[in-house]
Amino acid sequence: MTDYSGIDEKIREIDITCPPPEQEPERQYYFIRLLQDWSREQTERKGRPLQACVKTFGCQMNARDSEKLSGILKCIGYEITEKEEADLTLYNTCTVRENANQKVYGHLGQAKKYKEKNPDMLTMLCGCMMQEPEEIAYIEKSFRNVDIIFGTHNIFKFAELMAMKVLDEKSRDKMVVAVWEDTTEIVEELPNRRKYFFKSGINIMFGCNNFCSYCIVPYVRGRERSREPEDILAEIRCMVQDGVVEVMLLGQNVNSYGKNLDNSLSFAQLLQRVEEIPGLERIRFMTSHPKDLSDELIQVMKESRKICHQLHLPLQSGSSRLLKKMNRRYTKEDYLLLVEKLRAEIPDIAITTDIIVGFPGETEEDFAETMDVVEKVKYDSAFTFIYSKRTGTPAASMEEQIPEPVVKERFQRLLARIQEIGAEKARASLGQTEQVLVEEVNRQDASLVTGRTGGNYLVHFPGDASLIGQIVPVRLRESKGFYYLGERV
Ligand code: SAH
Ligand code: SF4
Ligand code: F3S
Repeated sequence: MTDYSGIDEKIREIDITCPPPEQEPERQYYFIRLLQDWSREQTERKGRPLQACVKTFGCQMNARDSEKLSGILKCIGYEITEKEEADLTLYNTCTVRENANQKVYGHLGQAKKYKEKNPDMLTMLCGCMMQEPEEIAYIEKSFRNVDIIFGTHNIFKFAELMAMKVLDEKSRDKMVVAVWEDTTEIVEELPNRRKYFFKSGINIMFGCNNFCSYCIVPYVRGRERSREPEDILAEIRCMVQDGVVEVMLLGQNVNSYGKNLDNSLSFAQLLQRVEEIPGLERIRFMTSHPKDLSDELIQVMKESRKICHQLHLPLQSGSSRLLKKMNRRYTKEDYLLLVEKLRAEIPDIAITTDIIVGFPGETEEDFAETMDVVEKVKYDSAFTFIYSKRTGTPAASMEEQIPEPVVKERFQRLLARIQEIGAEKARASLGQTEQVLVEEVNRQDASLVTGRTGGNYLVHFPGDASLIGQIVPVRLRESKGFYYLGERV
């Protein structure tokens, strides 16, 4: 049976006088035990605790993976720090757009300098960018300071790879590179360390089968596979016992949850089961692909007391012609109808989106269609991206790549309109009272705390650290662009 509670004890009980077990996660427990002894020696030698930094790029999936990696590092004996100048720094990379890769290289250059000062330092890389062979080849050539590289499919092998690097004489001076092409394996019951004690992301599925023509995710995250409902529920129950009041169910396309499992629940049914967990107060999920969003899901959201009235519904483009070229499998009309249905059933739903500007072949007319959807839907907020050519995706070899100045001008026009609409919507909510989950003391002004409404809006209001993790009613007093100022009622 899956049990997320006693992982530390299970690791303590592992017998390291035998050879490592074959089955997972026990095999990783074995290497964690070995590394615990190693880190104790290192700590004594240095006369201070070892420190590790996990630096995350990219989406919520990566953020959740980083929590798992931090959990393993903590279990091994590291203190977790935000400072990259630590004894061990692990970069969890993203490659969804070219600028994500550039950011990682900037940090790696800096890491080289840290290592000159502290030659014992371990520098590691993992995540989506490591699934691209040309990037690995470049790193092997230009960044010899890197000690370990692993990918998205063997992330659960982290402790084993680290043990290979630091405990095995043969690997000590070599770069350990271990990247798998794909996997169907899902390893449960590994340690993790949540960023917030009161809320957490939770993977319900991995990978993506949609192959939108611009997107690299299916190539670097592999085929879609869902976790068993009982494993998901067991993990959430354990989180709730540990103080979590809000969960966000994570998947690249949550609406197709369960498709690879026998007799599984639909996503809407899974939500109903999550709703039944006592002590859990709020449920969110992302991302919803518009083509798979069912009426059943809308009804479950409507009837639920815990599912937040918030939906991230990526549009990508308002032009049916481009949506076809993007392989999105819905039209502008389908999308608008879906939004209409959602608003009719759940009038206070906050809808957010992702939009790409400058997809190959985008004409002024196509762009006008996108602006039209923005005008009609009136998004609460939107992430806007300039199209980035990703090697190996079908869109990369499409003709008519759009010149940069044209894209930039369209992007600015779109952004300006989205901000105006966001501001109008925010003003319309002033005076309302919202339930706010308090996240932290405000970083600029310590007399304020910061939290999120059910619609996922940020609110700052007077309060102190004792409120962190609580859900409190707050009246929205003033809109400041991307956040509100409020007061407790
Ligand atoms: N699975 C999610 C999101 C994945 S990536 C979904 O389908 O919505 C997050 C966002 O990055 C996408 O929604 C898309 O808007 C953007 N994106 C993906 N590939 C891109 C590319 N090549 N260029 C620009 N933006 C891209
Ligand atoms: Fe990429 Fe499309 Fe999959 Fe989202 S649904 S991850 S955009 S391929
Ligand atoms: Fe980036 Fe990988 Fe997420 S490419 S957006 S970190 S799935």
